[in-house]
Amino acid sequence: MDLGIAPHGGVLIDRVVAPAAEAQWLAQTQGAPTVTLGERALSDVEMIATGGLSPLTGFMGEADYRAVVDTMHLANGLPWTIPITLAVTEAVAAGLTPGIWVRLADNQGTVIGAMEVQELYRPDQEREAQRVYKTTETAHPGVQALLDQGSVYLGGPIWVWRLPTPPFPAYHLPPRKSRQVFQERGWRTVVGFQTRNPIHRAHEYIQKCALEIVDGLFLHPLVGATKSDDIPAEVRMRCYEVMLERYFPPQRVVLGVNPAAMRYAGPREAIFHALVRKNYGCTHFIVGRDHAGVGNYYGTYEAQEIFREFDPQALGITPLFFEHAFYCPRTQGMATSKTSPSLPEERIHLSGTKVRELLRRGEAPPPEFSRPEVAAILIAAMRD
Ligand code: ADX
Repeated sequence: MDLGIAPHGGVLIDRVVAPAAEAQWLAQTQGAPTVTLGERALSDVEMIATGGLSPLTGFMGEADYRAVVDTMHLANGLPWTIPITLAVTEAVAAGLTPGIWVRLADNQGTVIGAMEVQELYRPDQEREAQRVYKTTETAHPGVQALLDQGSVYLGGPIWVWRLPTPPFPAYHLPPRKSRQVFQERGWRTVVGFQTRNPIHRAHEYIQKCALEIVDGLFLHPLVGATKSDDIPAEVRMRCYEVMLERYFPPQRVVLGVNPAAMRYAGPREAIFHALVRKNYGCTHFIVGRDHAGVGNYYGTYEAQEIFREFDPQALGITPLFFEHAFYCPRTQGMATSKTSPSLPEERIHLSGTKVRELLRRGEAPPPEFSRPEVAAILIAAMRD
């Protein structure tokens, strides 16, 4: 069956082995050392196993790692901007040699899969931080997470027999499933939307502008690890539910969760986010202002400009760029500086910090910024 746009590298990777084979895998890896996965690594394992990170079949070896850090491509020349690595401490690495098999366990100690450790290598993590995040400051949450992990990386293919229990079962759509859903709906073009924040009217505006030119909209909020002051995924999902009930045509929208962890790598993460959505079956991908940014580490449109450094054919998914959107009182609608005659001081837009301040005081952001139903959910969540 034709399942739409080609995945990155041409083949949708599947490293999930049948649950029935679990006993056999456990027997075969009896006595193998166990590597316990942190939250981020666990979500990477899920993403690799289900094809979200195609063409990766496991954690990167040194050649891919170096190529990604230095050239934003895999060693085989395919675009790829974020290292996908499995870090362990020196103490754990001391018990491992190349060629060894390890069991992969979650933080409860349940063995969920196995990895053939083809390589162990010591990365230059300061350099990785500088190249990938453009800073080595630990105030950057992505850099902090990178430097917090072990200093030895294990490279090699993985197999998984127990995927993590989906936190939002109704919206659990791994790439094979999302592709099937788009196919069933008869969508030839689908735009993907990455988000880690509660939906506001600027999000809604750019989603709907994009939807005007394609067949369907794939809302794909990230529900893996985020920084501690980001709004929790359960709250963000409730906001999406009310928005879908009231403000979107159901036949044109699919909501599914993205189990990945947020890296906050700005421009490099925008490319990565686009490639991941291509694997989920999207033909187009929305990149707005300061996509995947944090603090002032990246320029407002750097995550759009980086796309110029790639061959569009090799990326294989079309980015749709949007300027900073706001409510324009003069034209009484959402707009950007491309479409609004307003002066900057007239425009209604609130920063994330300002919104958090309002919510903490139990005040709703204005309806020009946030739909009232969403504001109510956010205020209630702050009280809990
Ligand atoms: S992100 O870290 O996932 O990028 P967020 O959930 O806020 O954060 O953004 C989701 C998408 O909407 C990104 O593509 C971002 O660039 C875009 N976006 C957010 N706010 C605006 C805005 N006011 N105008 C234009 N694009 C925006």
